[in-house]
Amino acid sequence: MKVLLINGSPNAKGCTYTALCEVAKELESENIETEIFQVGKEPIRGCTACRTCVRTKSGKCTFNDDPVNTAIEKAAEADGFVFGSPVHYAGASGQITSFLDRVFYAAGKNFAYKPGAAIVSCRRGGATAAFDQLNKYFTISNMPIVSSQYWNMVHGNTPEEVKQDLEGMQTMRTLGKNMAWLLKCIQAGKMAGVSLPVCEPRVVTNFIR
Ligand SMILES: Cc1cc2nc3c(=O)[nH]c(=O)nc-3n(C[C@H](O)[C@H](O)[C@H](O)COP(=O)(O)O)c2cc1C
Repeated sequence: MKVLLINGSPNAKGCTYTALCEVAKELESENIETEIFQVGKEPIRGCTACRTCVRTKSGKCTFNDDPVNTAIEKAAEADGFVFGSPVHYAGASGQITSFLDRVFYAAGKNFAYKPGAAIVSCRRGGATAAFDQLNKYFTISNMPIVSSQYWNMVHGNTPEEVKQDLEGMQTMRTLGKNMAWLLKCIQAGKMAGVSLPVCEPRVVTNFIR
């Protein structure tokens, strides 16, 4: 089993990375493979609403000049996800927002019925708003959400400060343990013959009449 952890910070080895590593360490100790995927520093185009992915049912974004399609391919193989972001102006970073908008619009099916968790890192404030924002991708995509003993946040401006946030770091370890447990439950369910829910044909009403 494998968990893909996406770092939505422009700082490859910063605070968000430090928190993601704590989750990953716990998953690895439960024999679950992990990969930390960096969204990176280069500009990530936002969704242009061209709807080419919907029209062609390609399962990919039509723009191939950034890591979006690579992440989509990796998501198809992964069993669980952790999305990490620094808090920027009391929301998730611009990078991860543009990135996840395109990943999910083109390939939300690669995530369905697989557990997800969001984590955020901030200096001082805005963590719960950013956390709520990231959780929205899961709740529109048929994904079970993994929680921890507190909302999944760490505080600090540097990795060293984040490591001093003992409660935040424990929250990350608990999250890793809880995700490992849920992944094992899902696997055990599959082996016992529990099948995925059968979806009704999708009803889409653009406004309520
Ligand atoms: C553009 C920008 C906006 C920020 N906005 C906030 C904020 O609203 N609240 C906060 O507590 N920290 C804010 N910060 C600080 C970062 O969230 C914090 O340092 C975070 O831990 C950095 O994580 P990273 O090292 O993974 O990038 C901001 C930083 C930047 C660069």
